[in-house]
Amino acid sequence: MIKGFSKFSKTEKVNWLAENFFRDKSLGIDTLKQYYNEDVKLQQLHDEFIENTISNFYIPYAIAPNFLINGKTFAIPMAIEESSVVAAASLTAKFWSTRGGFKTEVISTTKIGQVHFTYKGSKDELLDYFSSVKKDLIRSTDHITANMRKRGGGIVDVELRDRTEDLDEYYQLHVSFQTGDSMGANFINSCLETIAATFQKEGIFIVMSILSNYVPDCLVRAEVRCKVEDLFPENAERDARKFVQAVQIAEVEPFRAVTHNKGIMNGIDAVVLATGNDFRAVAAGAHAYASRGGKYKSLTGASIVDGSFNFWIEIPMALGTVGGLTRLHPLAKLSMEILQNPTASELMQIVAVAGLAQNFAALKALTTTGIQQGHMKMHLMNILNQLEANVHEKELIVDVFKRKTVSHSAVAEYLHQIRTGH
Ligand code: MEV
Repeated sequence: MIKGFSKFSKTEKVNWLAENFFRDKSLGIDTLKQYYNEDVKLQQLHDEFIENTISNFYIPYAIAPNFLINGKTFAIPMAIEESSVVAAASLTAKFWSTRGGFKTEVISTTKIGQVHFTYKGSKDELLDYFSSVKKDLIRSTDHITANMRKRGGGIVDVELRDRTEDLDEYYQLHVSFQTGDSMGANFINSCLETIAATFQKEGIFIVMSILSNYVPDCLVRAEVRCKVEDLFPENAERDARKFVQAVQIAEVEPFRAVTHNKGIMNGIDAVVLATGNDFRAVAAGAHAYASRGGKYKSLTGASIVDGSFNFWIEIPMALGTVGGLTRLHPLAKLSMEILQNPTASELMQIVAVAGLAQNFAALKALTTTGIQQGHMKMHLMNILNQLEANVHEKELIVDVFKRKTVSHSAVAEYLHQIRTGH
C-alpha cells in the first residue's frame, strides 16, 4: 500500500511507478513523457482535470464532413480510436446528402434527480408533510436556481413517490429540471442536496441525493427517408427488405440488439467525447432506454411504406454546450466552433444523427457485402504499423489490397515478398 500518493509531485509519481512496475524504467518514463504537452500551461490544465495525472492518453480526433441536417451542412468532429467509424460516418453523410439529408427534432428536455429516503411512519402523515413543505423545498434552492431561471430553466416539479412495494420504507422525492444549455449535473446535485436538507425531519432518513443518468424525457429523434429504389443500386427492394429485417432482428433478439446499439454508440460517444460531454452518462441512459419495455431492444427503427424507406432513431441524452469541460478543454471548445456553436438541443440532434448514420453504415454493410471488407480495409494501416512498414511499403500494399481481402497473414506475406524480393 502506498500512502499519500496524491500528494506526490508528478515526477515522484512517475518514479514510483517506474520503480514498482516498469520492466525498462527509462523506456517507461520516456513513453509517458513523450505525451507531455510542450505548452506548460496546457499540460497543467490537463493535469488538473483529474487526480494523479502522469501523462496524456490521446485518441484520434477526426472530422466527418457533409452532414446535411434540417437543410444545414455540418462537419462533425469525432474522437474515437476504432478505425472504421469516421470513414463510415463520412460515407453515410455523403450518401444521405443527395437524398434529402437528416431530419431531426428534440422531443423533450426534462432531466431527473432524486432524493432517496426511508420513512417508517404513516404514509398519510408523510404526504401531509410533503404537501406542507413542497413550496419550501423549491424556495430553499432559490439561490442555486437564480441564474438558471433567468435562462428559462430551473426546477419543474417535485413529486413524492412511494416505493415501499419494491423496498421496505423506501420513498423518494422525484425532481424534474430544465437545465438550458448545460448538462446540469452539478446544478441538479446541488439542488437535490439542498432539497434533502430542507426536507429532513425526525423519522425521515435521507439515504442519498443524486441526479439520474436515465433521461427518457430528454429525448431526440433523427430520421432519413428516400424511395426504396434510391437506396441500393441493384436489387433495391430485396436489399431494403433485408435492411429492415436486420433492424427487426435487433428489436426481438437482445444478443443482436446489444451489438446493433454498440454500433450506434460508436457514433454517439465519439461526438459526445469530442465536445467534452460525458459519454458514460449518455451510454448508460441510452442502454436503459433500450430496455424500457422490459426487454433490451434496438434504439433505431426502420420501415418500408408505400415504396418509401424510413429509418430513424429515438434516443435520450443529457448534453451541455456550456459548463463542464465543454469550454475548458481547448479541443472541445473547437468542436463547438466546428459545429457552429450549437445550443444543447441542437447538439442533441447532431449527436443523434451521428448515431443513426453509424447504424446505417453498419447495417448496409452487414446486409450486403459483410462487415469485414470495410473493417479490414480500415484496419490495414494498423496492421502495417504493427509490422513496422515504411512509407513506400505502405503505399505499395495499400494499392495491392484495394483489390484483395485484407488479413494479417496476407499483409505480412506481401510485406515479406517486398522486403525479400520474392
Ligand atoms: C463495430 O464496432 C460495430 C458493429 O458491430 C455494429 C453492428 O454490428 O451493427 C459493426
